[in-house]
Amino acid sequence: MIEQFAKNVDAGLSKAEKTLPSKYFYDKNGDELFVEIMKMPEYYLTRCEMEIFTTQTDELIASFQAHKNDYFELIELGAGDGSKTRTLLEALSKKDYQFDYLPVDISQNALDQLQQSLQRHLPQVSVVPKHGDYFDMLGSVKDSHHPKIVLFLGSNIGNMTDPEASEFLYQLGANLSKGDKLLLGTDLIKPADVVLPAYNDDSGITSSFNINLLHRMNAELGATFDPDGFVHAPEYNENEGIAKSYLLSNKVQSVEIAATGKTYNFQAGEKIHTEISRKYDDQVLAKILAKTDFSISAKFTDKKNYFADYLLNRN
Ligand code: AVJ
Repeated sequence: MIEQFAKNVDAGLSKAEKTLPSKYFYDKNGDELFVEIMKMPEYYLTRCEMEIFTTQTDELIASFQAHKNDYFELIELGAGDGSKTRTLLEALSKKDYQFDYLPVDISQNALDQLQQSLQRHLPQVSVVPKHGDYFDMLGSVKDSHHPKIVLFLGSNIGNMTDPEASEFLYQLGANLSKGDKLLLGTDLIKPADVVLPAYNDDSGITSSFNINLLHRMNAELGATFDPDGFVHAPEYNENEGIAKSYLLSNKVQSVEIAATGKTYNFQAGEKIHTEISRKYDDQVLAKILAKTDFSISAKFTDKKNYFADYLLNRN
């Protein structure tokens, strides 16, 4: 795991335009900061999707087209703290559906907490956590031959470029069977005055979330990043529909990383690209799905039309 981390960091920092993979945000500290982000007034995504889950629970469940006597697996990719899913789990179990809940997450810490909290609040639901990234989990999905409903919520897919999303959904489809479902949560394209503050909050939590990556490299890779030497600098352009996060070097500096055995030089004003958060509409999604085995069969939105959960059918 550490070797992979070091390899990915070296690859990203060796490019002419430096990058770091956003999946490494989520150590224990990063998990906690992301929970704080979800509570921020500026981060509308979570509240909008929560509204969909609480006000359209029955419609969502109906769209799954599951039969009460047929066992299915409810797989959640990037489950995190599972707060939205809890509403769904509660309703499914009240309606006597037969299922196991399989949360997949890159963070073992998040999975442990999720399992504990479900054990306490919904002991009747059988939880089978899987630790790993999305690609690790594709293979294990295929091992069972039960019908599957996959949840990929919170616009987590937005960290992928469109070609990456397309390839991922193609692979996911290849590991599912005809009639299986994917509920895909997507943040919708909207003006910068709404989107940008979600990634640039006044209280500085998103900044800490981004800077935490430097702390993590210092702690786990023996790096010498000066966390005060970098500034959180997000951008969003409505035409493109992609929020981008950068760490901007505020001085000329060099950083050594013991785990890679290299030194990396930064100019004043040079940026490290740490994350994209893609925003969607029907056209963007249709293009991503074009070469996959999925088609859109329903769309659930919040009252403001900020966020959409698309129900995709595996053809
Ligand atoms: C967890 C990927 C959906 O991109 O909105 C929040 C992560 N980054 N603030 C997003 C994030 C900065 C978030 N996702």
